[in-house]
Amino acid sequence: MTEWLNVCDIADIPQLGARVVRHGGIHVAVFRNAADEVFALEDRCPHKGGPLSQGIVHGKKVTCPLHGWNIELDSGCAVAPDEGCAREFPIKIEGSRVWLDLAAVDQAAA
Ligand code: FES
Repeated sequence: MTEWLNVCDIADIPQLGARVVRHGGIHVAVFRNAADEVFALEDRCPHKGGPLSQGIVHGKKVTCPLHGWNIELDSGCAVAPDEGCAREFPIKIEGSRVWLDLAAVDQAAA
């Protein structure tokens, strides 16, 4: 089951940055890269919970602002040799609108 929420327009997400959506106690970081691809991860670094939304996006990765781990945006997982994954949520673009699967966020919050 999916439940798509219209989060914003892609132009509302800073390029190479993120916008945070709060739902059910979970903070979801919605990232936009240089190719205007979007990705949604829980805004918690798998290392020590740093705010990934405040990191710098490069390619399909974000660098955590706290200790510099690189996290793969499409899986949420840390680039080796670091280990661990942030939760990743389904997201899509239709036209210029960005949609997030709220059902997946609810599931993570449960
Ligand atoms: S909390 Fe992200 S690298 Fe340490």
